[in-house]
Amino acid sequence: MAKAEIGLVGLAVMGANLATNIAEKGFRIAIHNRTAARIPEVLTQAGALAGNMVGCDSAEALVAAIAPPRAIIIMVKAGAPVDAVIRQFLPLLEKGDMLIDAGNANFHDTRRRAEELKDTGIGFVGMGVSGGEEGARHGPSIMVGGPAKSYQRIGPVVEAISAKHKGVPCAAHVGPDGAGHFVKTVHNGIEYADMQMIAEIYGLLRASRKDAEMGQLFQRWNAGPLESYLIEITGKILQTADPETGNPMVGEIVDSAGQKGTGRWTVIEALTLGQSASTIEAAVGARSWSADRNARGAGAAALDAGAIGDDAPAQADLEQALLAAKIIAYSQGFSLLLAADREYGWRLDLARIAEIWREGCIIRSALLDEMASAARAGLPHGHLILSEPFAVRLNAALPALRRVVATSAASGQPAPALAAALAYYDTMRQARGTTNLIQAQRDFFGAHGFERLDGRTGQHGPWAMG
Ligand code: 6PG
Repeated sequence: MAKAEIGLVGLAVMGANLATNIAEKGFRIAIHNRTAARIPEVLTQAGALAGNMVGCDSAEALVAAIAPPRAIIIMVKAGAPVDAVIRQFLPLLEKGDMLIDAGNANFHDTRRRAEELKDTGIGFVGMGVSGGEEGARHGPSIMVGGPAKSYQRIGPVVEAISAKHKGVPCAAHVGPDGAGHFVKTVHNGIEYADMQMIAEIYGLLRASRKDAEMGQLFQRWNAGPLESYLIEITGKILQTADPETGNPMVGEIVDSAGQKGTGRWTVIEALTLGQSASTIEAAVGARSWSADRNARGAGAAALDAGAIGDDAPAQADLEQALLAAKIIAYSQGFSLLLAADREYGWRLDLARIAEIWREGCIIRSALLDEMASAARAGLPHGHLILSEPFAVRLNAALPALRRVVATSAASGQPAPALAAALAYYDTMRQARGTTNLIQAQRDFFGAHGFERLDGRTGQHGPWAMG
């Protein structure tokens, strides 16, 4: 029997769909799952495509089924299970083979694994895959990190199975070791901000509109500058009825959002790198607060709004506010990528990253095409918000964002991510900020010293003590 060109371990839905996608693109793939009963299920589901798949009921059988040098995709739960699979396969592999972790790994783990495998002759690739189950089956966006020579080997498969934007694959080698997983993490952080901002707009709309009406509004917005997968699905979700009660489905769902970690990692890495992705932080925080349901229930009874207004934001303002805040969130995400690039020397191509996010991934949107062009032209001081087309868009949309944040604050409707976007924007347009006072305070109580405007450093104030 002909040897397989690639292998895959881990046949939960993402792994099974990715394997089927690979088979569909004409590559022969060997598949294995720890619970072997899953293998025939996947082969049956694959139908005729199973002809390109080789079910292997052991790690040894999988290795034997693949033509060397072997490439094996690992699609198991992030964390310890990935290390377990590596440990299992390492003794079975030969120099020149490679393992590809396609889960949502923390990039520090990916860097560690790459380092641990460095002297074994077995390549290690950390591959971010976005697009959910559908994407895995029909075309995800793929962010590959690892040695360039590993990409030469797997690039043809990865590009064939990826989504395409006007025929261009939404897959790329973004950099060495943990770069692929870092880029995927930031993608997810942006996804959190995007989702939170949409949810905040929903919160502002729902007092005065029925769910289906809101759904139609999102659907209309999807035909404008906000065109994106998340706006599209929000439109659909809001127009969906619960088959059991006939009520809007969204109204039947507990308002407590889960999170698996990538949003939080984005925020942690931002802070570690001396950045603040405040819009993403607001989104992660909002999910955490959402878990505290009992306290919120008590708060609803015990805490007054202290409202100073009850204006509802204008519908047109909401669209523009969302647009402005979204640009600001992406700008923070891009700045974070650049900060990581400086720290780790990955030589990230921001434009290419934006390009591979144009299709297939969860944050795909029309705006990403423009963002890619802006990044290609070079971001002034590394900031998307300073690139001319986006500064123009922001200047036009800002009054709406300001009105929306102001009316939500006045009425007591929380909009933490929109407000964070506005605060960041206002900070970034303040040539002279207020940290001169903080420097003075630090010097007062700790003799930390400061720099004078004339450039003299290590200065101290004539503070009156006591
Ligand atoms: C994607 C998604 C996917 C998943 C994340 C987010 O790009 O396909 O981001 O990776 O939905 O794990 O999950 P949480 O919202 O549970 O953190």
